[in-house]
Amino acid sequence: MKLQNKVAFITGGTSGIGMETAKLFQAEGAKVIVTGTNPGRLEAAGKALGDNALVLSVDLRKPAEIERAVEEVRARYGRIDVVFANAGAGTAAPLESVTPEQIDEQFSLNVSGLFFTIQKTVPLIPKGGSIVVTTSFLNAVGTPGLSILSATKAAIRSLVRSLGAELAPRGIRVNAVSPGPIATAFHTKLGLTDAQLTETATAIQAQVPLQRFGEAVEIARTALFLASDDSSFTTGAEIVVDGGLTQF
Ligand SMILES: NC(=O)c1ccc[n+]([C@@H]2O[C@H](COP(=O)([O-])OP(=O)(O)OC[C@H]3O[C@@H](n4cnc5c(N)ncnc54)[C@H](OP(=O)(O)O)[C@@H]3O)[C@@H](O)[C@H]2O)c1
Repeated sequence: MKLQNKVAFITGGTSGIGMETAKLFQAEGAKVIVTGTNPGRLEAAGKALGDNALVLSVDLRKPAEIERAVEEVRARYGRIDVVFANAGAGTAAPLESVTPEQIDEQFSLNVSGLFFTIQKTVPLIPKGGSIVVTTSFLNAVGTPGLSILSATKAAIRSLVRSLGAELAPRGIRVNAVSPGPIATAFHTKLGLTDAQLTETATAIQAQVPLQRFGEAVEIARTALFLASDDSSFTTGAEIVVDGGLTQF
């Protein structure tokens, strides 16, 4: 058991990568808290994770909601050993049609939401704690139509270094897992038509050296490594799990 009796706070834990990670962390002995916004997915997550999990509705665009959730965790557990700052979303749009609202929406969730998740949870994280951030292969390549989403992921790659440096003297590590294309609902929320989605999926599979989409559990296993003492001398780093997409 790599996370025996650890308390793990997982944003975006009601779906995809976050949900698989919550299940794996539980199997490794952790008490998990998962957050999301969609009522149906929150309910499904509660059923999937059972009574031991705390499922909280938290819109990460609102720092007051993060604060309220952290207070609830403090009252119940008194500490947080692992933060998996994983929630994220994007909108596909070419340069000419990107709106100020789209920029605000993506930065307020993917960057500010993540920043305030770390800021508000850190007082509860003891020495030896671990913060894991979900970045993306998009921070290493240019992809037409995904400029803003990619920029948010580059920004949080930078935050992992800066906050890692700030928190290192307190014995708290900060690292990232950078997924390649992973088979989750994420792609269906980009605002693409079904035809565009099918076309993109075919193109991606042709580009990935391992010739497939990754599975959410393959990211969860890396998050587990970074969350646990197995990575005790690793901080400020990003582990790329992308089937070779950005490497060759
Ligand atoms: N799938 C990929 O190919 C891929 C590739 C690279 C990086 N990533 C990154 O991996 C992370 C997880 O994505 P996923 O693939 O697992 O997608 P997903 O299945 O769509 O999960 C996204 C999660 O984020 C939550 N979320 C969305 N908006 C939120 C908000 N305003 N406040 C709080 N939570 C919110 C969702 O909860 P609700 O639905 O309940 O709001 C959901 O739990 C994201 O950061 C994404 O950028 C994914």
